[in-house]
Amino acid sequence: MQIKLENLKKTYDTITAVNDVSLDIPENTIFGIIGKSGAGKSSLVRLMSLLETPDQGAVFYGGRRVDNLPKNELIACRRKIGMIFQNFNLFSSRTAGKNVAYPLEICGTPKAQIKERVTEMLKLVGLEDRENAPISTLSGGQKQRVAIARALATQPDILYCDEATSALDPNTTQSILALIKDIQKKMNLTVVMITHQMEVVRDACEYVAVLEEGQLVEQGLVKEIFANPKTKTTRDFIKNVLNDKEMVKWSDQTGRFHLHFTGNTPDKPIMSMIANKFDVKFNIFAAGISHLPDEDVGYMNVDITGSDEEISKVIEWLEANNVRVRKEQE
Ligand SMILES: Nc1ncnc2c1ncn2[C@@H]1O[C@H](COP(=O)(O)OP(=O)(O)OP(=O)(O)O)[C@@H](O)[C@H]1O
Ligand SMILES: [Mg+2]
Repeated sequence: MQIKLENLKKTYDTITAVNDVSLDIPENTIFGIIGKSGAGKSSLVRLMSLLETPDQGAVFYGGRRVDNLPKNELIACRRKIGMIFQNFNLFSSRTAGKNVAYPLEICGTPKAQIKERVTEMLKLVGLEDRENAPISTLSGGQKQRVAIARALATQPDILYCDEATSALDPNTTQSILALIKDIQKKMNLTVVMITHQMEVVRDACEYVAVLEEGQLVEQGLVKEIFANPKTKTTRDFIKNVLNDKEMVKWSDQTGRFHLHFTGNTPDKPIMSMIANKFDVKFNIFAAGISHLPDEDVGYMNVDITGSDEEISKVIEWLEANNVRVRKEQE
């Protein structure tokens, strides 16, 4: 299901948590929305998921306006939505199986069908042998699997994930992301992944939008945003994932030029070609590669010395060869 947001606005007391947000989310994809704490992510997802109504603006699902539906239609529409959260929000007094059964019970599904569906859903998330386990006996990762099974039990078209992996360790995070990616394909879901972790965007999302103080400051394909981030907020998010493990530094200096290699450029001897073609010297301070699901993006922080004229020729040549160049602010 395609989702369209049009000029959404929501103010709480004096805080404008969502400030004129417009966004097109294509169907059948995983769309990340990233932002720092307090940026308005949860407020935005509450509007998108029809839990709250916006002060201004509109929400469309598949071209149909859904933010102002009468109550009975709203309830029907909300059945098309599944949600999972950081803290799982499971019923601790129910078993895993009974949690998955819950949304089916409230929409009046016949008992035999519920039983069948619960078995099917627990199998889908790899917990077929834990149906009768009390929630308290499950690990965090297993709890999130139960929450996913519950969210998808009624076969929704959309899955909203609000910081779904934030309470999990890195390995468990990866296994939950792999599961969401797998289920997205199997069920043709539109998944909206709210997160403050760029790793989640890098490893699971096709598109990303960056939220800052209630406003969208950047959006696009993940591979393009990684290759050519336009705002400082986005660059900081990317820097954080790189610094973790992927950027190798030779010096504390960062160099005046940041090069991003996309497409097949990492295969070309770009740097030695520069040295041969132009009268400049370059010094590499740091380099790394981000592995995106279908493409690698290479990064290099360098200094280029030479005449201004030669340097601008180098930059022009690099840009023509799919290497994006950003000059550090002086
Ligand atoms: N129900 C509410 N009443 C008053 N203020 C609210 C309410 N919900 C959100 N806010 C405010 O709106 C702003 C955005 O909050 P929101 O929870 O959407 O941020 P977030 O991006 O989800 O942050 P986090 O990463 O910490 O979850 C914050 O300043 C918050 O205090
Ligand atoms: Mg939040």
